[in-house]
Amino acid sequence: MDPRHHDQIAKWERRWIAASGLMSLMFVILIAYSLATEGGHIAQVAARGTPASLLAQPIFAEPGVRITGPGQAQVAIVAQAFAFVPEHIRIPVGTEVTFYLTSRDVIHGWQVLDTNLNVEVIPGEISVLRYTFNRLGTYLTVCNQYCGLGHQGMLGEIEVVSASDFARGAAPAAPAAAAPVAAREPTAAAAVDGARLYTVNCAGCHGAGGTGIAGVFPPMAGHAAELALQDRPYLIDSLLYGLQGPILVRGTNYSGVMPGWSHLGDAELAAILDHIVAFGGPAVAPFEPDEVAAERGKGWSPADVLAYRDQVIDP
Ligand code: CUA
Repeated sequence: MDPRHHDQIAKWERRWIAASGLMSLMFVILIAYSLATEGGHIAQVAARGTPASLLAQPIFAEPGVRITGPGQAQVAIVAQAFAFVPEHIRIPVGTEVTFYLTSRDVIHGWQVLDTNLNVEVIPGEISVLRYTFNRLGTYLTVCNQYCGLGHQGMLGEIEVVSASDFARGAAPAAPAAAAPVAAREPTAAAAVDGARLYTVNCAGCHGAGGTGIAGVFPPMAGHAAELALQDRPYLIDSLLYGLQGPILVRGTNYSGVMPGWSHLGDAELAAILDHIVAFGGPAVAPFEPDEVAAERGKGWSPADVLAYRDQVIDP
């Protein structure tokens, strides 16, 4: 090689090395600056193990809020495709909260908007971080690690309420679990667009055309209509309460978690049901909002829906 070319290349190489060194230095300064001025801290790892062993720990057996003392609370959150469990967290203002997070499946992120809470949620690790919410309001939590097709819908919220509101809300907590899931204000069935609701709520996992993803998300096309003919309540329950555990659909095994959609109204769920049975398969009579309403109030878990499925659905 011509030695002049060599010198030229070496000169450019030195410039690139200097530029990347400068950038690294800048990042270190930024991190140090934010730790010093924004009160940032690095989440600690409380435990490592298999995801199953971590989920079996008492704190995750019933994730949610525990008041541990005056001004002290623990909150356990399980991240899974594509939801935080529990989705909604309610804590009294001014409480020092210790968050425990773990993942059931893949790496997720957990970021609480308008705070400096932001942690990577890793399967096989329990991350611990502390925070005191001193301002009333509802904070949105988002997954900020791409975790699959439903990632953009992986949301939750933290509601920070006054101590008296918290006490009022906490008192009837025990019977509330069995109380009917309140539907949102009823909507006229005709005004509800099932295709649009399906796109917003379901297409992320089950596909725009209801084809699903083999081994990951079961297909709706054809299959939903067959389920409706076998047992209409089952199909409604799976939407209302979700479904968790191993199932066999058309010779393919699926083992996933679908969260419940009971926050949608009866007419909205009926419209989604009409949409999914229309993807193909045998003709199914339209779903009525009353039919959906009749299934509310069972207080089922996704695992209960699986148990019911095993009884009524012929694989
Ligand atoms: Cu979970 Cu993105």
